[in-house]
Order: sequence, then C-alpha cells, then structure tokens
Amino acid sequence: MNTLDLIKNRRSIDPDHFTGAMVEHHIIENMLEAANWAPTHGYTEPWRFIVYEGEKIASFSEFHASLYQKHTNAEQFLQKKYEKLKNRARLCSHVIICVNKRGDKSNIPALEEIAATSAAIQNMLLVATSNQVATFWSTGGMCYHQSFAEELGFTIEDQVLGILYIGKSEQVQYEGKRISEWQAIVTWK
Ligand SMILES: Cc1cc2nc3c(=O)[nH]c(=O)nc-3n(C[C@H](O)[C@H](O)[C@H](O)COP(=O)(O)O)c2cc1C
Repeated sequence: MNTLDLIKNRRSIDPDHFTGAMVEHHIIENMLEAANWAPTHGYTEPWRFIVYEGEKIASFSEFHASLYQKHTNAEQFLQKKYEKLKNRARLCSHVIICVNKRGDKSNIPALEEIAATSAAIQNMLLVATSNQVATFWSTGGMCYHQSFAEELGFTIEDQVLGILYIGKSEQVQYEGKRISEWQAIVTWK
C-alpha cells in the first residue's frame, strides 16, 4: 500500500469494538520506534509514552476511574461514567499514554513541542494501521486533569496529549469520511 492510501486507511476504532486479542509485542515496539522518528525542532524529542500491556491494563483502568472519583464532587459524580472509565479498555491489548514533556530549551516554543509529539502519535497510528492493528486516540475522561499527568510523574509544564487504546478489531477496514475535500482547505498562491 502506498503512503497516501495508508494514511487514508487509518481509522479510529472504538475500543468497544476490539476483540480482546493481543497485538504482538514487536508491533508495539515498532510503533514506539516510529514515534521517536517524528520531526523535532532542536532535537527536543519531547514525546514520552507510558505503555500498559495485557494484564497491566487493569491497573490503568483502576487508576483512571479512581482519579475521576477522587476529583469529582459528589453532586457531579456519575456512577455510569465511573464504570465506563473502568471498562473502557477491557478489550484492549495495549494502552499507551502519550505525554508531551516540556524541555528546557526556552528558545523552542512549547507549541512546537506539542506539534512534534502530535506527529509522533500519528507515526504510531500509521505503523499500527500498516499492521492491521486498531487504534483509538482518546482525550476523554481525566486525560486533561492536572492530577492525571502528576500521578504519572509529570509536571504542570507537561501535557497528556492522549490515551491510545490499541487492539485487534474486525472493523479496521471501515471507510472513513472527511467534511472537506482536500482542495477546499488549500489556498494556492
Ligand atoms: C487530539 C485528538 C483527540 C481525540 N480525542 C477523541 C476523544 O476523546 N473521543 C473520540 O471519540 N475521538 C477522539 N479523537 C478521534 C476523532 O474522533 C477521530 O479522529 C475522527 O472522528 C475522525 O475519524 P478517523 O480517525 O477514523 O478518521 C481524537 C482525535 C484527535 C486528533
């Protein structure tokens, strides 16, 4: 498959539609290696990944749901949401937390590090797609809550850019859509 087709074939697959089968460890390693080859201004290489594999995923789910419980007022707490966070990854093979770690090169704008980490995440998704591995980039739940990054050992300077749910699915090939054709988002000068 050529690169454009690979990019167009990448789909977000809801983890509820995963099969529960494991993705081979070496594919996950390939995804992480691809991430590390993203472009990076000044070689800040700001991406960091926390990988939960197989049975370890339960500890992530517990962590995620308990953070929600801890940081939500009793009046706003929804048992349904708590259960959803606890069960979200039940059919995943791996969960990868993607973090942008702000470096100490103050001449590199923070935005550029976020851009680099975003590119790294896309690299991972494309390697997954090329191996018929399903992925879902989520920013839901407690992802953006300060406590989430802190509990994982990061600081207020750093940003969690997403939770990648990874697994096998029968749905990998469903057709995607875009609101605009590419010609509509380009101004030629
Ligand atoms: C930064 C970012 C955050 C996202 N967060 C969520 C999310 O929290 N929930 C969700 O359903 N999809 C999320 N998505 C996935 C988009 O919904 C998805 O990419 C979009 O629907 C297009 O579908 P496709 O990825 O199959 O082309 C996110 C995507 C990006 C780039």
